[in-house]
Amino acid sequence: MKILVTGGTGFIGSHTVVELQNKGYEVVIVDNLSNSRAETVNAIFGITGVKPLLEIFDLTDREKTLDFFMRHNNIRGVIHFAALKAVGESVEKPLEYYRNNIDSLINVLDGMRENNISNFVFSSSCTVYGQPDELPVSESAPIKKAESPYGNTKQIAEDIIFDAVEATPLKGIALRYFNPIGAHETALIGELPLGIPNNLVPFITQTAYGLREQLSVFGDDYNTPDGTAIRDYIHVVDLAKAHVVSVNRMIKSKMKRDFEIFNLGTGNGYSVLEAIKSFEKVTGKKLNYKIVARRDGDIEQVWADPTFSNNELGWKAEKGLDEMMVSAWKWELAYRQRSQEPRTKSQDKRP
Ligand code: NAD
Ligand code: WQD
Repeated sequence: MKILVTGGTGFIGSHTVVELQNKGYEVVIVDNLSNSRAETVNAIFGITGVKPLLEIFDLTDREKTLDFFMRHNNIRGVIHFAALKAVGESVEKPLEYYRNNIDSLINVLDGMRENNISNFVFSSSCTVYGQPDELPVSESAPIKKAESPYGNTKQIAEDIIFDAVEATPLKGIALRYFNPIGAHETALIGELPLGIPNNLVPFITQTAYGLREQLSVFGDDYNTPDGTAIRDYIHVVDLAKAHVVSVNRMIKSKMKRDFEIFNLGTGNGYSVLEAIKSFEKVTGKKLNYKIVARRDGDIEQVWADPTFSNNELGWKAEKGLDEMMVSAWKWELAYRQRSQEPRTKSQDKRP
């Protein structure tokens, strides 16, 4: 059973390819390597014993995308991860974000339609909820005006999928991720932030490793128990498994509606200081951090109500914050160690 995973050499995509292959799916990846490396397929081989096929091209290229679907007409489902995801960058380069994230989506949906492929899983985000009025946030919470062009691409994408489902045989599942962190237990795949990380956990691990001098904690005057902002951190492997469940659900015709939306979170909110404490506890390393002003655009607190996904998908996030931190740290150490090894000509240059 062949599944197309767009963005499959990226952070969440690579972990999902592993879980798909573990369940016996054949995977073909399309990625333009704008934020990942071709070597990831070797790491996936190291974990699963199977090297997924990788085709390198940009999904905003309509001709290449349609040609790809013509050549792979036995694909049973598509998981669409490919997107640009840096919130701050999207404010500076809105057109690039709209073009990349929306054009690629439309091209993939067109390719699917022309080849009668109907099963589509989409990477959405809890960012569509903004600061919710009620916590925990369930799938029926209102969608707030997007805080950034990036967030808007997720809202627009959900609308596009909804309309396409109404008009064509397409079936869609949008998975709204909360805050994915951590890495595979083998430390062979993980997150590769380019340059200075925006996200909390890569910043923590890079600071502990000595690549960054100090972590800035953005604000301790929020209306939360310790004053720092609260998020629902979810282990990337738990997240990946939900994609396999979603694909199974579609292929086995278990969907209740032709477009379904699920929150992927643990249901537990942790503050920035709690995340730091967890990291310090499991690694035994003291983290150099200081409290600074709030970061523009940050919301105060959000965590998922995962009841609907737990019940409907029969899926539940299993790994706790400590385990997430251990795996993130193990990955940072392993990745840095490997980066110091002599590189071959084919390897690109990462930070
Ligand atoms: P990532 O950057 O590691 O992976 C995305 C992959 O898509 C990269 O390998 C990149 O090279 C590829 N890509 C981007 N544009 C492409 C294009 N036009 N053609 C072909 N390939 C392209 O990001 P990730 O963290 O794995 O995120 C995967 C998806 O999940 C994205 O859609 C992202 O918006 C969404 N998401 C991520 C988070 C998060 O915190 N990581 C949270 C919510 C949603
Ligand atoms: C987590 C918490 C920061 C860095 C972003 C996107 C969202 C989604 C996930 C894709 C916040 C604090 C962070 C630092 C800090 N992505 N922090 N110091 O902002 O919840 O979500 O990634 O859809 O759309 O906005 O994640 O990891 O950046 O921050 O104090 O150096 O850590 O203020 O409270 P965020 P994050």
